Amino acid sequence: APLHQKNYLVNGELKSWDGTTAEVHSTISSTENYEPTLLGSVPDMGEPEALEALSAAVDAFDRGQGVWPTMHVRDRIECMEKFVGQMETKRDEIVKLLMWEIGKSLPDSQKEFDRTVEYIYDTIEEYKDLDRNSAKFQKQDGVYAHIKRGPLGVVLCLGPYNYPLNETFALLIPAIIMGNTTIFKPAKHGVLLITPLLEAFQNSFPKGVVNILFGRGRVLATPIMQSGKVDVLALIGNSKSANAIQEQHPKSSRLRLVLGLEAKNPAIILPDADLDLTIEECISGTLSFNGQRCTALKVIYVHEDIKEKFLKRFAERVDGLNFGNPWDDGVNLTPLPEPGKPAYIQELIDDAKQKGAEVINEKGGKHFDNYIWPAVLHPVTKDMRVYQEEQFGPVIPVLTFSDIEEPLDDMAESNYGQQVSLFGKDVYALSPLIDTLVNLVCRVNLNSSCQRGPDVYPFTGRKDSAQATLSVHDALRSFSIRTFVAFKDN
Ligand code: G3H
Repeated sequence: APLHQKNYLVNGELKSWDGTTAEVHSTISSTENYEPTLLGSVPDMGEPEALEALSAAVDAFDRGQGVWPTMHVRDRIECMEKFVGQMETKRDEIVKLLMWEIGKSLPDSQKEFDRTVEYIYDTIEEYKDLDRNSAKFQKQDGVYAHIKRGPLGVVLCLGPYNYPLNETFALLIPAIIMGNTTIFKPAKHGVLLITPLLEAFQNSFPKGVVNILFGRGRVLATPIMQSGKVDVLALIGNSKSANAIQEQHPKSSRLRLVLGLEAKNPAIILPDADLDLTIEECISGTLSFNGQRCTALKVIYVHEDIKEKFLKRFAERVDGLNFGNPWDDGVNLTPLPEPGKPAYIQELIDDAKQKGAEVINEKGGKHFDNYIWPAVLHPVTKDMRVYQEEQFGPVIPVLTFSDIEEPLDDMAESNYGQQVSLFGKDVYALSPLIDTLVNLVCRVNLNSSCQRGPDVYPFTGRKDSAQATLSVHDALRSFSIRTFVAFKDN
């Protein structure tokens, strides 16, 4: 039955909404003739509710004097443990919503849930260590200092649709535990799955610490930012939206930004690469969750010497994947949650074809329902949109190179700098190249595809790919500041 979500959480109260609502559809078809399925609806709120949530968060922080920012670490941990304990009881419901709302496969939906729970427990442990190690009393040159790590204030948190639970909570949980107060708006797709958690948020934290709104991002974020009362913008998404929201703040340069943004991660395949392994890693790298990951491989550079072999086998492997509903056994490709995505992917394919590329796999670009079969495009050139844009979907541009300087130059010119995958056998001989690559991106994956996890490793990027670092370890630091009291030995 459709889930008509009527509540929102402001100032510790689960309020009932009687205004206009927005329907939530799944792009998974429940009929033979493709028709989107109505999953439910959520409130479509406006400025008054946005300002109500803002004032609850501002009051709860109370210039750092509120119950939450001044609460003892042990008690804050207790609140977080209570929350995660309640969340664990909602696993089946949330996993089901992940599959229906965003089309994520059953194993990946389960993984997203379990990974998030683990992330919260790891954050609690990290927070204990951080508190133990960062509270310092020291003396230097006759000056005593009592150094601590404290919250920043009010955090506006906007999550992405591809990881509506895990990445959203990778922002929200560290922001909360560090003593900040928050206003959170879930992503458009993956919004209903926050419903089962509303009560857990309400009864685990003091009033005003977590405020949850539903509606359109810009509509809600604009008055909140224009108030000038937000201290941190935490967002995972694209830089265009992040900039537009950030600019609303009257003193935007004063905002702390915790942003995870676009990437165009390349795979570089050297002549001596192990082809079996490389193909499998490139399949998962480009097409896990249909390529809708900021960490996906979004462009492949293959050396001229192995181009023929690679392209033939890679194209066959792509065509051998399974499309189906998220709960089907062994499914690799699933319906796309954004209704406009297949048409966008088709535009990229058409543009590339017009400029001289070919779709080299037989099934590439075939449409059915709301899906378009992954297209492997070759030869791709830099004037093509599929090279220039972050496709975030099932289309794979392949370029060739004969001199390693070619992909390196492209990476240096790129607006992005998150990760790279390097495939070659002689890792020892590759070390000078690896040294160059780490100065162009933030993570070099040797003989493996790009990814964010394990979540304890730093997750960040250069240029337009990120502002701040997320990980169990780093996010706590991104959402806090070191302060100290000093006095002289006189
Ligand atoms: O969309 C970007 C995500 O952070 C990707 O995370 O590498 O764990 O799939 P992942």
